[in-house]
Amino acid sequence: MKKTAKAFATIAFIKYWGKKNEALRLPQNSSISMSLDRCFSITTVDFDNRYKKDYFSLENEMVSSKEIDRVIKHLDRIRNIAKVKLCAKVVSKNSFPKSTGAASSASGFAALTVAAAAALNLKLAEKDLSILARLASGSACRSIPEGFQIWQAGNNNNSYAYSLHPANYWDLLDILVIFTKEIKPVGSTEGHALSRKSPFYLSRIKQATDLIPQTVKALVNKDFATLGQISEQDCLAMHAVMMTSQPPIIYWTGYTVDLIRKVYFWRQSGIPVYFTIDAGPNVHLLCQSTDKEKVLNNLKSVKSIVDIIINKPAPEAHLINNHLF
Ligand code: DP6
Repeated sequence: MKKTAKAFATIAFIKYWGKKNEALRLPQNSSISMSLDRCFSITTVDFDNRYKKDYFSLENEMVSSKEIDRVIKHLDRIRNIAKVKLCAKVVSKNSFPKSTGAASSASGFAALTVAAAAALNLKLAEKDLSILARLASGSACRSIPEGFQIWQAGNNNNSYAYSLHPANYWDLLDILVIFTKEIKPVGSTEGHALSRKSPFYLSRIKQATDLIPQTVKALVNKDFATLGQISEQDCLAMHAVMMTSQPPIIYWTGYTVDLIRKVYFWRQSGIPVYFTIDAGPNVHLLCQSTDKEKVLNNLKSVKSIVDIIINKPAPEAHLINNHLF
């Protein structure tokens, strides 16, 4: 059967960086995020006995043999649950550049999970879809539920993400400022492993874990200043770990640093805007919708921006009717 799903990337306020079990993708700390309505993947999966092997392609983008293997491994997980041996054709597309630190693997694997499970007629609960997506890419588990998500670190059967608040709970914006669409030098999976050797690895995990209750509270109270401050704190701690990994991983460029400094300046001049950065040079600006125009106006003075994507919190990963083939 052929099914198509749409799933959204997330931006984490408290990030996932470091695994206590690599094979099971169990995180060292719980993480909290918001999904991004303009950063999504659409994936069509067709299981049929006319396919003699699995096919995977990403519309308008190159895929490496490593990426194809990762997709096939995930199809195997889903085939095992459904107890079928059918091969599949998988076509996917992203609304945003992949591998630039905007977490296309998260939305991609979440969409693949939902589409493949439905194509094999599996009726999985959101929790089970989230666990399954996690096994393909950790952050993909947060791309299953809607709005604002928490991924409880947990163990294999209880490490999954669920929604803390629906998408329409709070009109927060994530303004993604893209400086480069080039593929990042070190992928996240490798980066997680290299980070173990940073002297700051464990202290960042402790800090992130300690910040979880405050982040939950900031969301409950819609306390934007606290949420923004926590997001910057964990982002900088994660990048300190990355930069002190062995070998070091420096995802930032000069443009990243310039924008961080501008955000501090804009805040001093009265605009409540905060930054966070994933595994790449591009910067996510967090603000409330009332401040959108002011932030966009200030961004006009920032050089070398190649694209800006304005995101609101997004719905859960879901099936859609328009197939890609
Ligand atoms: C920096 O989920 O891409 O975006 O589990 O190895 O696939 P794997 O890693 P991945 O790591 C994402 C890390 C991050 C932070 C975050 O989204 O929490």
